[in-house]
Amino acid sequence: MDQELSGTMRSISINSNGTTKQQQQLNGHSMKTAVSCGTDEIDNVRRVTATIGGDVDVAKTTNASKTPASAATTTPSPSLIQQQQLQQSLPSYASASVAEKKKMVHELCQQLLLTDEQVHELCYRILHEVRRGLAKDTHPKANVKCFVTYVQDLPNGNERGKFLALDLGGTNFRVLLIHLQENHDFQMESRIYAIPQHIMIGSGIQLFDHIAECLSNFMADHNVYAERLPLGFTFSFPLRQLGLTKGLLETWTKGFNCAGVVNEDVVQLLKDAIARRGDVQIDVCAILNDTTGTLMSCAWKNHSCKIGLIVGTGSNACYVERVEEAELFDAPDNRKPHVLINTEWGAFGDNGALDFVRTEFDEDIDTHSINPGKQTFEKMISGMYMGELVRLVIVKMTRAGVLFKGQDSDVLNTRGLFFTKYVSEIEADEPGTFTNCRLVLEELGLSNATDDDCANVRYICECVSKRAAHLVSAGIATLINKMDEPHVTVGVDGSVYRFHPKFHSLMVEKITQLIKPGITFDLMLSEDGSGRGAALVAAVACREDVLNSK
Ligand code: GLC
Repeated sequence: MDQELSGTMRSISINSNGTTKQQQQLNGHSMKTAVSCGTDEIDNVRRVTATIGGDVDVAKTTNASKTPASAATTTPSPSLIQQQQLQQSLPSYASASVAEKKKMVHELCQQLLLTDEQVHELCYRILHEVRRGLAKDTHPKANVKCFVTYVQDLPNGNERGKFLALDLGGTNFRVLLIHLQENHDFQMESRIYAIPQHIMIGSGIQLFDHIAECLSNFMADHNVYAERLPLGFTFSFPLRQLGLTKGLLETWTKGFNCAGVVNEDVVQLLKDAIARRGDVQIDVCAILNDTTGTLMSCAWKNHSCKIGLIVGTGSNACYVERVEEAELFDAPDNRKPHVLINTEWGAFGDNGALDFVRTEFDEDIDTHSINPGKQTFEKMISGMYMGELVRLVIVKMTRAGVLFKGQDSDVLNTRGLFFTKYVSEIEADEPGTFTNCRLVLEELGLSNATDDDCANVRYICECVSKRAAHLVSAGIATLINKMDEPHVTVGVDGSVYRFHPKFHSLMVEKITQLIKPGITFDLMLSEDGSGRGAALVAAVACREDVLNSK
């Protein structure tokens, strides 16, 4: 259904014969086809003659507002006890008037709306946590780890050559072959492989053997089996990096939980798996986060790109920091003034810093997640949880008789079956129309919804997605203010940002309110940051001028 409902979701892939093969969706929003290693992978070849602007989404904004107050007082949300009391005292509203039902929905959703004061307080708290992550003394206890990436050079457009890339960290795993050419041209062939659920929560050995098998099959199918190629590995999990090709997994996120990987060097695990097969020759040149890939991929074309942001299955940001601020960075080259920092802001709030804005629905999501108490900020924002948040609100209102005359369905009552793409689809309806909304509700087994039900469901979606956009904006504005440069481009990727019809404008509006007067910014949609970005990090690492300066 997602393919029909949203124009932006349609992307045609062309296989190596030049014929259209299959709709491809690289993230959790879509991707209905189950793909697996060996048999039914999705092939994707792109030949791109990149001209800046054509396929880049840019909104330029000038800030007119004041600096966020550092310690504004906050209006707390109703406490959990108050909320529970409200829940217990809810009568059945099945026979209430349309206006009363609307009022009930709006009142319940009030807790999802962030006041300006709360957003300012969030900026203050995020900055505090970022500083704690950067500083040696406080780093061990900080939630926002601010890992050093060892990436110090942004692409200058002169990177050339053929690279392999691996992209692990979203819904699927991809292998790519990227040829960087002159004038920002590049050719890219990629294939998506599913990571079956049993591998996501199996052993690390199984995971890396699966990755090595996919890599070997890909190389055979793309006629590079016998070549020794440099490889960039986009590994989008919290990684304590010890160098450009060495990083220990801090903790799993986003539904992964493979045994024997935490605290291990992920590059070594990959090399070991490749060695176990013994059939292909690879030079792992860099390991990176998807936020780093996104930043690099945008910076290749736009030199003011200094922040990389993902709002997809998970949420995270990286940014260019001054070396002297990154206390944990054992700089190999003192002459370079900057280093990219992977904030891993998804863990913000794990110490309670977000409790003043968390709701009963956030508590519920966390309790039933694979990693309770972890990734608190991410669970309020990202695609892995957004649909479920909406479902929880709808279920509550249905049980109270406010929605659907109190009639629920098995699908509605099942965790995880209100997909985040539904939120984008419902909000893509023209005002006053509910075509997508009805299609979604029918998929949920709720076919008797009135227009008023649809309007209420849509309002719930709007509150959840607006809160997510405002939380992300608080994070981005904090980084922009910290960097204190006159203009910053933010490279953005991820299914939520890409497909939600209003996420971009909600962010532009909120960031504008939050950044210091005189600073300007824009949000630039990244073109395959995890793939091309990996090639670029590898390419920059072996770029001649970089090698010479070492
Ligand atoms: C999770 C991961 C992080 C990644 C983000 C977006 O937060 O921990 O490394 O960047 O998801 O994919």
